[in-house]
Amino acid sequence: MKLGKLETNKIHHGNCIELMKNLPAGSIDHILTDPPFAIEFKAKQLSYNRKLGNVLKGYGEISQDKYLDFSLSWMREAFRVLKETGSMFVFSGWTNLKDILIALDELGFTTVNHLIWKYQFGVFTKKKFVTSHYHILFVVKDKKSYKFNKIDHYPEDVLTVNREYWKGKKKTPTKLPLELVDKLVQYTTDPGDIVLDPFMGSGTTAVACKQLNRHWLGFELVEDYITLANQRLE
Ligand SMILES: C[S@@+](CC[C@H](N)C(=O)[O-])C[C@H]1O[C@@H](n2cnc3c(N)ncnc32)[C@H](O)[C@@H]1O
Repeated sequence: MKLGKLETNKIHHGNCIELMKNLPAGSIDHILTDPPFAIEFKAKQLSYNRKLGNVLKGYGEISQDKYLDFSLSWMREAFRVLKETGSMFVFSGWTNLKDILIALDELGFTTVNHLIWKYQFGVFTKKKFVTSHYHILFVVKDKKSYKFNKIDHYPEDVLTVNREYWKGKKKTPTKLPLELVDKLVQYTTDPGDIVLDPFMGSGTTAVACKQLNRHWLGFELVEDYITLANQRLE
C-alpha cells in the first residue's frame, strides 16, 4: 500500500524531517517513536563499560542546544500527518525532557499520560542514584476522540519491562524491548491501522506491528540499522 509517495511496511532511508513531508496530512493512526535523546552517548557507552564489538556504528546524536529546534521540526510533521483521532507515544530520557514537553505543547498536542518505563540497569554509581527509567509521553491531537484499548483491567502508568540483551549478536546502541513496544501498540491501535516510527533504529516498532497485523512505515538515517531491521523482520 502507498501513502502519498511512500510505500508502507518499509523503512525508508533518510532524514525523517524531510521524508515525512511526502506523507499526506491526516494519514497516520499512531506514531510510536524513540528519537535521539541529545545525551553524549559515546561517552556514556564507555562509562557503562559495554563491549562495543557487536554494536553497529553510525549513531549520531543531536547537540543539546539544537534539541528544542530538532524536536519542533519533526513533531510539526508528526502533528500534520496524524489523523484527527491519532495519538503518539514519544520516549524521552530525563535530561532533555523539558524540550520535548515544550515542543509538544507548542504544536498543540494534548498530553493524556506521562508514563514511566522502569527497567533494570546494572551500572554502579558512587554519589548519585542509578537511572533506571525512561519517560513515555502519551499525546493526542483531539482529547475528545482518540483510541485507547483497555487491554489490561488496571493499566498503570508505570510499565516495568526488562531491557533485552542481545549477547554476542549484532545490535544497534539503543534498542527498545519488543515486549514493551508490542504492549504499547496494542493499547492505541487495532489490526489494519497505520503506525509510523520516524526514528526506526533496529526496527522494533516495525517488528511489533508486523506481528500484530498493523500497517507500518518508518525512517532511519543509518543504512546498517535498516539492514539489521530488515533481517529482524524476515
Ligand atoms: C533511539 S534510536 C531508536 C531505537 C529504536 N526504537 C529501536 O528499538 O531500535 C534513534 C534512531 O533515530 C535515528 N535518527 C536520528 N536522527 C534521525 C533523522 N533525522 N531521521 C531519521 N532517523 C534518525 C538514529 O540513527 C537512531 O537509529
